[in-house]
Amino acid sequence: MKRVAIFGATSAVAAAAAERWAARGDRLFLAGRDAEKLAALRARLGNAAVAGDFQGDFTAPGVASAAVGAAFATFAETGPLDVALVAHGLLGEQQETERDFTAADAVLQTNFNATIALLVPLVNGLEAQGHGALGVITSVAGERGRPRNYTYGAAKAGLNTYLQGVRSRLYGRGVAVHTFKLGPVDSPMTTTHTKHALFSTPERVAPILVDRLDGPGGEHYVPGYWRPILGVVRALPEAVFQRFGFLAGR
Ligand SMILES: NC(=O)c1ccc[n+]([C@@H]2O[C@H](COP(=O)([O-])OP(=O)(O)OC[C@H]3O[C@@H](n4cnc5c(N)ncnc54)[C@H](OP(=O)(O)O)[C@@H]3O)[C@@H](O)[C@H]2O)c1
Repeated sequence: MKRVAIFGATSAVAAAAAERWAARGDRLFLAGRDAEKLAALRARLGNAAVAGDFQGDFTAPGVASAAVGAAFATFAETGPLDVALVAHGLLGEQQETERDFTAADAVLQTNFNATIALLVPLVNGLEAQGHGALGVITSVAGERGRPRNYTYGAAKAGLNTYLQGVRSRLYGRGVAVHTFKLGPVDSPMTTTHTKHALFSTPERVAPILVDRLDGPGGEHYVPGYWRPILGVVRALPEAVFQRFGFLAGR
């Protein structure tokens, strides 16, 4: 039995992972913004699986650290926190973020600042325990700036760099740090997107996250077919990249 804390637990991907953890008998702490979705998820997972929950907007002052404090407090009596997954995110409307800094700021605050606000106390808590696995969902969008989603991609790229630093900071300290570079997934975040052959589903990616969080840390492409694809996309010179509409178009 593992003690698992999920931040952004009502996300479609996180909820699918929660179902998998619950099915194998793990104990869950769920933090999310939407009280109704949180209650519905809690009911779906059942009281035997859910040890506690927390409702709040991670971009609001003090909320992220309160959520992390509640996670550690929930499990304090029974043992250390074994797994923490940070899964919240906001894609936003790319072209709106180009016209209006308020829209860009919402994307940057949600994906970057609010995640760091969670990670500062989470990483310190896991380091103090000398035990645990930390996973953060970033995106293949962070691998290369594209006109379609570069504001969101820049925030996720920042997280990739931050997590590289955390992974090396905690090297040999008993804490595995996982960066999940997710490809497109059919979820509420992508309802308006055309679903091409490389799209995955929450049900397909969730088991990958759960399995990886049982193993050694690192940067994981999810699903794995994105690793070679992104290897090519990253290597293309800009002058070549810009000629391909499917890469550089809107
Ligand atoms: N879907 C994709 O194609 C894709 C691709 C690459 C990476 N990702 C990443 O995968 C993760 C999961 O996304 P998903 O596909 O499962 O999307 P989703 O179902 O839309 O979930 C996004 C979640 O983030 C939560 N959230 C947003 N802002 C928040 C805030 N300020 N405070 C607390 N929670 C907040 C939302 O809460 P509410 O329920 O209150 O709105 C929602 O539960 C995200 O990090 C996303 O960036 C997704």
